[in-house]
Amino acid sequence: KTVAVLFGGRSSEHEVSCVSAKTIISNINRDLYEVIIVGITKEGKWIKVNSIEDITSGKWKNGTTTAVISPDATQKAVLFLEGNKVNIEKVDVVFPVLHGLNGEDGTVQGLLELAGIPYVGCGVVASGVSMDKLFTKIIADSLGIRQAKYAAVLKKELEQIHKVTEKIESVLPYPVFIKPSNAGSSRGVSKATNREELIAGLYAAAEHDRKILVEETIIGREIECAVLGGNEPRASGVGEIIAAADFYDYDAKYNNEESKTIISPELPGNATETVRDFAVKIFKAVDGYGLSRVDFFVINDGEVIFNEINTMPGFTAISMYPKLWEAKGIGKPQLIEKLLQLAFA
Ligand code: DAL
Ligand code: MG
Repeated sequence: KTVAVLFGGRSSEHEVSCVSAKTIISNINRDLYEVIIVGITKEGKWIKVNSIEDITSGKWKNGTTTAVISPDATQKAVLFLEGNKVNIEKVDVVFPVLHGLNGEDGTVQGLLELAGIPYVGCGVVASGVSMDKLFTKIIADSLGIRQAKYAAVLKKELEQIHKVTEKIESVLPYPVFIKPSNAGSSRGVSKATNREELIAGLYAAAEHDRKILVEETIIGREIECAVLGGNEPRASGVGEIIAAADFYDYDAKYNNEESKTIISPELPGNATETVRDFAVKIFKAVDGYGLSRVDFFVINDGEVIFNEINTMPGFTAISMYPKLWEAKGIGKPQLIEKLLQLAFA
């Protein structure tokens, strides 16, 4: 069988995706699969990548062969375009190792639906809803699962900034978090302890999205849970992030070596079981499929507060998703084979 791996992407999480893709490609069983690698530049150019080493060196961006998924469902293929030559290669399954916008948000999933090619992970709606923090808020509310109090702001409303700050200050105490509704890896996210910082944070978030979420600050431990499966998804154990920075921002996640993860941390009360239960409930409620990592806060008394769901979680050296399954005896090659099998199911 032939698997096409898509990575990179027109996303602020482009670099993380390159690292995740390396992990995934190097763990695909080559006795079972032929691998086609397609890199998508930050500008959105699709390029054929010849080897995994080219991902590491960044050399892939100089590639001259375009590689695009054909939306024509009778082809089920990648089209390689070079000069005026076209090569059509059949594809059995696609692994979209894309994080954030234009990849984890249902857009690429929509293309793959059109193409009629099975793909790893969540479908169009689950991906879109999970990428949009305001939509996932609605889902968690509908399940009665506790989450941070929040206010929604449209970029357009920033034209009358005093009205916005008034609205937020009337419902949320400082400090607050400001987040683009659609983004990942904490891009465009900031914390504000006063009005001045709130305004700066709103404008910063508006660079990333037209919908902005402002949330109360939850003081708690950052606990994550992996979900794997199709119609009967199951939860892994739980893991904890010990952030090196004030919060687990982009830099702390990927550039700061002091950030640590702990598998199966000691949690108060029934928190571990509650996290696992909520993770599966949320996954099902968004109509998840294949995989997701669901992130929570656990506060002192053991109360569990939902934070977010990531439908294509990172597969970097520090990433929790593969670590949580390794702790359950499912190594990376087996995990990736399972994800590919689920795509065919
Ligand atoms: N958005 C990053 C890749 C993660 O959740 O792991
Ligand atoms: Mg995320």
